Amino acid sequence: MIFSDILLLFGMAERCNALARVIVLNRCSFPVYLKSVQLNETPPQALFPGDCYSETYRYASAFNPATGNFSAVGVSIKITTDEAVGQSLDETGRSAAFDSSAVTQFEYTYDPVPYPLPDLYYDLSDINDTMPRQFCGYGIRIEPSSAECNTIACTPDCSQACVDAYNNPADNATHACYSTVNLNLILCYGA
Ligand SMILES: *[C@@H]1O[C@H](CO)[C@@H](O)[C@H](O)[C@H]1NC(C)=O
Ligand SMILES: *[C@@H]1O[C@H](CO)[C@@H](O)[C@H](O)[C@H]1NC(C)=O
Ligand SMILES: *[C@@H]1O[C@H](CO)[C@@H](O)[C@H](O)[C@H]1NC(C)=O
Repeated sequence: MIFSDILLLFGMAERCNALARVIVLNRCSFPVYLKSVQLNETPPQALFPGDCYSETYRYASAFNPATGNFSAVGVSIKITTDEAVGQSLDETGRSAAFDSSAVTQFEYTYDPVPYPLPDLYYDLSDINDTMPRQFCGYGIRIEPSSAECNTIACTPDCSQACVDAYNNPADNATHACYSTVNLNLILCYGA
């Protein structure tokens, strides 16, 4: 099933920007709070049930002491269900609440330099989530718009970690893809 079909199925197509490259869709019955972090970060924003967040792939490079060269900087879209973020009355309070909350991270690195492709790497990280995981009862899924790239699926199961996600920095949970492909993160996807 391609993502536009999924959107139609959920009756949400009109609320999403189909041209965006990263789309986060909140199918949960509760709000979540999201921040996109790279060299700079967006202020925390609420994503209410049925809402989408989208951004075109962000690129920045920075000096990497490990390689002695400049290299592409990854982006982390951090997501929390912590209601304290929504209850804060101003942006300073929201940022402070967000930064002390558990997060589920949708991470990607877009690097236009490599030839030939792939030029896009992505993963889901539960390393800075709580136990049990925030979305363990609801399911979460990263669905690329092309079958050439791998789906990441965490089905509802609070009894164990999601094997498709990073649970430890030593895990190997990163997938390679192409910047022409959209990555769709669906929160509360179900089974
Ligand atoms: C650093 O970049 C230069 C110029 O692009 C390249 O020749 C060199 O191999 C790179 N070094 C490493 C360690 O990647
Ligand atoms: C988890 O949080 C710590 C402390 O803020 C940070 O140093 C680390 O990079 C985070 N891990 C991931 C995978 O984001
Ligand atoms: C990580 O996974 C990729 C893709 O499955 C594989 O090509 C690579 O060899 C793996 N790396 C390690 C260190 O296991």
